Amino acid sequence: MAASAGAPCAVSFSQPHAHLKQLSLGFSRSISSSASKFVSFPFNFSLRAVDNTKEFKSPGITPIAKARGGPGHMDIDLTLSPRVNAVQPSKTLAIIDQATALLKAGVPVISLAIGEPDFDTPSVIADAGFNAIREGYTRYTPNAGTVELRTAICQRLKEENGISYTPDQILVSNGAKQSIFQAVLVVCSPGDEVIIPTPCWVSYPEMARLAEATPVIVPTSISENFLMDHKLLDAALTEKSRLLILCSPSNPSGSVYPKKLLEEIAKTVAKHPRLLVLSDETYKHITYAPATHTSFASLPGMWERTLTVNGFSKAFAMTGWRLGYLSGPGHFVSACAKIQSQLTSGASSVAQKAAFAALSMGNAGGETIATMVKAFRERRDFLVKSFGELEGVKISEPQGAFHIFIDFSCYYGAEVEGFGVINGSESLCHYLLDSARVVLVPGVAFGDDTCVRISYAASLETLREAFGRIKKALVALRPAATV
Ligand SMILES: Cc1ncc(COP(=O)(O)O)c(C=O)c1O
Repeated sequence: MAASAGAPCAVSFSQPHAHLKQLSLGFSRSISSSASKFVSFPFNFSLRAVDNTKEFKSPGITPIAKARGGPGHMDIDLTLSPRVNAVQPSKTLAIIDQATALLKAGVPVISLAIGEPDFDTPSVIADAGFNAIREGYTRYTPNAGTVELRTAICQRLKEENGISYTPDQILVSNGAKQSIFQAVLVVCSPGDEVIIPTPCWVSYPEMARLAEATPVIVPTSISENFLMDHKLLDAALTEKSRLLILCSPSNPSGSVYPKKLLEEIAKTVAKHPRLLVLSDETYKHITYAPATHTSFASLPGMWERTLTVNGFSKAFAMTGWRLGYLSGPGHFVSACAKIQSQLTSGASSVAQKAAFAALSMGNAGGETIATMVKAFRERRDFLVKSFGELEGVKISEPQGAFHIFIDFSCYYGAEVEGFGVINGSESLCHYLLDSARVVLVPGVAFGDDTCVRISYAASLETLREAFGRIKKALVALRPAATV
């Protein structure tokens, strides 16, 4: 895989052994052990030399550090588990760090890299949290979550998605991220393949690697609204395929799988007895055509094979409360609960009371959430229209979530004096930070280097200002662009 272009490694610890010296001389290697087998995919690529591997263990070399403040002769083995080395550090950190430094220096940077709603948690929810604390509801809850919350979740899933679960088929965790990771850990054995339509949320391939499984990337294209063709899925499946991860509405593209396509996917899935589906529906309440959202588990024959993840973070503006949940067949949910019982135990008691209040706000969060979604929709419309007017730029109109994934590859190849050549999404984002003072997330972080993710979890006024700045910076590139 393309990963063999490992980033230059800097070794930050002292090197008592002479043979370690080679590491400090820019020695470079692939840090990825598992490869995507379906297509070559640049998840491990760094177009700009980002120092993202501060420490690593090279085969046959044991990193050693001297203990500080001790007798001075004791060596400490700094070896990390191969599991750590298999995981890629966040591609977005370098640019966010740069933006933070600029902000600290007083430079008026606009960040559209945000992965959370810009709204406050609705007051009904926040008040429930305050009350929980005041009333002393501050002790451990059952590992799987309170019966009160799990019962309310079952009721909502039935009303909103037409799927039936009992409370023992629900596991409440510290955010959807934990729910997803536990599910991946529980169903994947070493060597299994995890099918991931891409562009995808950054954590899926890394979670698969942590489970010692192999991420298998199925590319989607902007011309197909980033939706996976079921024939491509069919071609990617083998006897090793264990888990298909679907995300709808999607981060980063905002695409929503129509029911018809999900039905085709379900038919393909049904042909493979070993294959399970993880349906990430974290953004399900943020859709611009609510009737189009279909839960994969509601399709004929799919309930038994589907683990569905929902969160409170995105729709209820509760990112910091850390609450999400898994629903699925009891066999898998209990296995996830077993892992959770040894890892974190039950989620926060206060957050669970707040989440219960969130579910009491009505279907899809009722009026309060509808107001937020309306605001997101206006912002989406503004961005689609504005960027759509730029020549050469390709857009797929997001149907949900609060990001838009725009193809700016028409600007690649342009050379900027004092900056260099723009040769991909990372360098374009660095250029836009340098010259427009706007932070965006390079598409390469999501597995698609032609695009850049723009979050519209920001006011219309901010988006107008950001667009003006981006447009000015892009127009300056145009004469030099090769396409
Ligand atoms: C697609 C997707 N799934 C899951 C999560 C995790 O959400 P949380 O752990 O905040 O509930 C995120 C967070 O950004 C996401 O984008």
